Amino acid sequence: MSKPFRVVLAGCGGISAAWLNAVKEMPGVELAGLMDIRVEAARRRRDEFQLARAVAGDDLTAMLRTLKPDVLFDCTIPEAHFATTLLALRHGCHVLGEKPMADSIEHAKKMAAAAKKAGLVYAVMQNRRYQKEIRAYRGLLAGGRLGALTTLNCDFYIGAHFGGFRDGMKHVLLLDMAIHTFDAARFISGADPVSVFCREWNPPGSWYAHGASAMAVFEMSGGIVYNYRGSWCSEGLNTSWECDWRATCARGSAAWNGGGLFRAERVVRGGGFLSKCEDVPVKVPPGAKQGGHKGCIADFLDCLRKGRAPETACQDNIKSLAMVFGAIESAGAGRPVKIRA
Ligand SMILES: NC(=O)c1ccc[n+]([C@@H]2O[C@H](COP(=O)([O-])OP(=O)(O)OC[C@H]3O[C@@H](n4cnc5c(N)ncnc54)[C@H](O)[C@@H]3O)[C@@H](O)[C@H]2O)c1
Repeated sequence: MSKPFRVVLAGCGGISAAWLNAVKEMPGVELAGLMDIRVEAARRRRDEFQLARAVAGDDLTAMLRTLKPDVLFDCTIPEAHFATTLLALRHGCHVLGEKPMADSIEHAKKMAAAAKKAGLVYAVMQNRRYQKEIRAYRGLLAGGRLGALTTLNCDFYIGAHFGGFRDGMKHVLLLDMAIHTFDAARFISGADPVSVFCREWNPPGSWYAHGASAMAVFEMSGGIVYNYRGSWCSEGLNTSWECDWRATCARGSAAWNGGGLFRAERVVRGGGFLSKCEDVPVKVPPGAKQGGHKGCIADFLDCLRKGRAPETACQDNIKSLAMVFGAIESAGAGRPVKIRA
């Protein structure tokens, strides 16, 4: 068995519990430190997760210097990802950081360049692509039974009352949530973004300060069109967090509710006004990857051990972030814009 990775986790707020739960019984992880600018938050997590041997502190530079971790888990707020990641890379740490990768494309490019220059891995937590159902949906579309994918639609409608930093955040839906969905769209379609036309607004009755709703049409590589409709202030008839999806392919269609429900049909006889179709079963493969945070962290550590690039490596994930900033730019300009990552 190889030596365990020494890990420091920065940012001991809400999401850090998902990370600490995920690594609780994960072999090969030694939690050396917990850091937060509010030291009481770091101490609380240390006590709650019974990590008596972990140092709790509020000075990341000092902790990186003295604890010499191999890996930093960055669970800080989006505006702190840039500085936190660059600091960890300067101290020779690989980084797995929460989404969104950064608060601007310029910052994200600098982070990717710094990781490359340091010869270290920086990857992003995209826990939703580790769900076994999304892999089954992607597998169906990639398998060719429905013909080539031409159009991908998804709806995200959840009335989420968080409180906290999201309430006052600009572009809250696009920046904080749609990054998951756009990354899932790239994963499901196997295509990369080319351009986008987006309308973003804050509907009457929204409890957010800005941008709780958005609709965006993306042109993807291979001529695929991807449509996104979403709202974080929509009460009733909530979709799943993973969205309701519909894929139109050359010889059939497939729907997925983001959970365990799939429906797919393919043409068995054409030539009439409506083609005759048959159901296509969708199977979630047994032994699929572990889901969520646990799956993403385990895969990241396995990549470090084996020298593989994680599928959410910053060099790839920046394309999902570019969809977010492209949508924001388009909404501001009121016209379609090219997407550059
Ligand atoms: N992957 C997911 O499903 C998922 C879900 C929720 C949140 N997130 C992401 O996780 C990140 C944190 O979100 P949260 O909900 O835990 O927020 P939060 O406000 O609950 O916690 C953030 C913590 O970071 C600390 N912090 C702020 N700046 C810091 C800095 N420079 N150094 C160290 N600590 C700092 C704060 O004191 C706070 O304790 C965000 O990027 C968010 O988008 C991801």
